Amino acid sequence: MTQIARRMLSAKAEQFTESVIREMTRLALKHNAVNLSQGFPDFAAPEEIKEAARQAISDDINQYAITWGAKPLRDAIVEKFERTQGIRVDPEREITICCGSTEAMMSAMMAIINPGDEIVVFEPFYENYGPDAILSGATPRFVKMRPPENENSFWSYDEKELAAAFGPHTKAIILNTPNNPTGKVFTRAELEFIRDLCMRWNAFCITDEIYEHILYDGAEHISMARIDGMRERTIVINGMSKTYSVTGWRVGWAIASPEATNSIRKVHDFLTVGAAAPLQAAGAVALRLPDSYYTQLAEKYRAKRDLMMGILANAGFKCIKPRGAYYIMTDISGFGAKDDVTFVRELIEDIGVAAVPGSSFYNDPAGLGSQQVRFAFCKVDQTLHAAAERLSRLKPR
Ligand SMILES: Cc1ncc(COP(=O)(O)O)c(C=O)c1O
Repeated sequence: MTQIARRMLSAKAEQFTESVIREMTRLALKHNAVNLSQGFPDFAAPEEIKEAARQAISDDINQYAITWGAKPLRDAIVEKFERTQGIRVDPEREITICCGSTEAMMSAMMAIINPGDEIVVFEPFYENYGPDAILSGATPRFVKMRPPENENSFWSYDEKELAAAFGPHTKAIILNTPNNPTGKVFTRAELEFIRDLCMRWNAFCITDEIYEHILYDGAEHISMARIDGMRERTIVINGMSKTYSVTGWRVGWAIASPEATNSIRKVHDFLTVGAAAPLQAAGAVALRLPDSYYTQLAEKYRAKRDLMMGILANAGFKCIKPRGAYYIMTDISGFGAKDDVTFVRELIEDIGVAAVPGSSFYNDPAGLGSQQVRFAFCKVDQTLHAAAERLSRLKPR
């Protein structure tokens, strides 16, 4: 690239690379690898909601919806949030429908961040939060989560380290529960500890709850908005992608106080105007599916998790059992690989299975992540068995 061209580009965009996860998907396609990298299901979405989308297009719901979201979907979100979390929000003043939870997160950050503001982020973290911070102008303060020491413990953080990450410049903490990539589900006690810090430093909690229904072993999803004192200062980010297996639809939302929503709606309007109108109409149908749909979804993923844990253990990976979401973080130290990126490239090219290098979830690529790899198991059993067959060729040291 010439000097002139470089000077003409955004310094912000220069600070991050393209998504490693989505790059792995492209590499997987190139090498015809079984793709366990990006978190999208390879099975069909529920018939009722596909029919609802077709019907919406036939009914000519084909023009812009109201910028902050079609009323039927906002009403359905209100009903579902009350049913699942016991909180009633105002569809007129507290919900913004966006193009996926990705846009909801970006709009929320841009709506609250000012120059000099800091955000607290648990590490490892879903990789989007890094660029989200850069683009919105926030300085991230990372707090390490430590992998469990034995089968009975879980990913944890040091309360003192978390407390030390907050300060007068903290604008928000980004929470993701159930968590990608660790599978951690934050407990009420942990949420209350975070609540105390948010209150002390007058900070928001932006909580990404996109895996709320993918829970195992009796884990309960508690929204931060439900914790005493947090209703006003919580921005809930959620979407249809994972719960209804429609990652390509790009429908998500932010639930926030009227003041924050007012700001989020303005950012959202000028970023994207609105999410696809017919798919919002289908979303209103999806969010009213009976409770049995969510129970079956969790049970389906529980069986896949157990299958995948066995497959990876047989292939020589040390696995950390997730309590939520649909990923397994593994420790690859038994393979004697140079680092996670080299390991994954060889895994794709030589073995034919794609995964995500652990370092893409960490700020410092040379740290813990360099010996970790994440596998997604949101795939039909046939795909998982095909991966098993290929992984059996791997040779741990
Ligand atoms: C934690 C988390 N948040 C958000 C997203 C993206 O969600 P959406 O498809 O609604 O933009 C993902 C996708 O993998 C994710 O893992």
